[in-house]
Amino acid sequence: PGLAVLAKRAGLQYFGTAIDNVVLNNTRYVSIAHNRSEFDQVTPANGQKFVHIEPQRGVFNWTLANQVIKPAKKARQSVRCHNFIWHTQAPEWLEFGNWTKKELVSIMENHIKVEARYFYDTCFSWDVVNESFNDDGTFRETFWYKTLGKEYIELAFKFARKYTSPRTTLYYNDYGIEKVNNKSLAIAELVKDFIKRDIPIDGVGLQGHFRMATAPKYEEISASIAQFNKLGVETAITELDVRIELPDSPEKKAKQAEGYANAVKACVDADDCVGVTVWDFWDPVSWVPYTFPGWGNACLLDDDFNKKPAYYAVSDVLRAA
Ligand code: G3I
Repeated sequence: PGLAVLAKRAGLQYFGTAIDNVVLNNTRYVSIAHNRSEFDQVTPANGQKFVHIEPQRGVFNWTLANQVIKPAKKARQSVRCHNFIWHTQAPEWLEFGNWTKKELVSIMENHIKVEARYFYDTCFSWDVVNESFNDDGTFRETFWYKTLGKEYIELAFKFARKYTSPRTTLYYNDYGIEKVNNKSLAIAELVKDFIKRDIPIDGVGLQGHFRMATAPKYEEISASIAQFNKLGVETAITELDVRIELPDSPEKKAKQAEGYANAVKACVDADDCVGVTVWDFWDPVSWVPYTFPGWGNACLLDDDFNKKPAYYAVSDVLRAA
């Protein structure tokens, strides 16, 4: 059985993958990506980001998102949607627009409204706000923050709740929060404050972009998941990958497998960690080599689509659950 089948048996709602548009002409890739016994959930890796969805103010383009979402629906895979509000992959008209507060709030509301309605029955979950914190737990000084202050985060969640389906779970999503540290503590404070003030939030996404040698331990990931679950929100591992400093070796692959297995096991064992998504499953299309030259091979399948030790380690963890 594939990973998604095993994940269901282990009590997770889903085991999924991100899919990017650049590789959709590769039939081998596509047949695995939309094989729902392997992956029963899909996240568009790029197509729903602001720059692609609203490339000009008020002009919406669903092409890239639909290239991933339509085949997913056809394959009866569920769709996690990513993302409404981020400082990266924002169009220039937005980022450098010199907006007043009022204008920027209205741009935010309209963007969320139009996109939420378009994907109303599509998204079982939305990453509403992505990566708002620095590693030290302070707010990142993005263009959203500079004009609106930290209130931009709650505004986005209020708009998301207003325009998405009531069944859609709303997530705050970030990286480097898979341990209890300044950043994850700051996010837990945000969640606490939201709950106290009745600002809608349903979950925290722990992205899970790890380096092979420093991937967090099982206990560390469990502790971070628990700090959110105990506040009453769910969690998910939303972007799991474990990158290797090249050249690769069997020892490094084994260490990588441990990194994957620990994250999946921590989610399976947690009170309320609903699923795991890998940030693509095939080494050649990973974002890693592009962003970190000299690093790569971060995924479950190698260049020839062979299953790596990481794949078998995940499979074993799910089987044992
Ligand atoms: O498609 C073009 C191609 O035509 C062009 O030749 C090439 C060179 O410039 O660029 C290609 O586009 C790139 C795209 O990835 C390809 O898929 C963009 O420049 C590049 O910016 C984009 O990177 C994406 C990155 O987010 C942007 O920050 C990655 O694919 C995507 O996987 C990554 O995903 C993020 C999550 O959204 C949030 N968490 C971290 C994660 C990894 O960075």
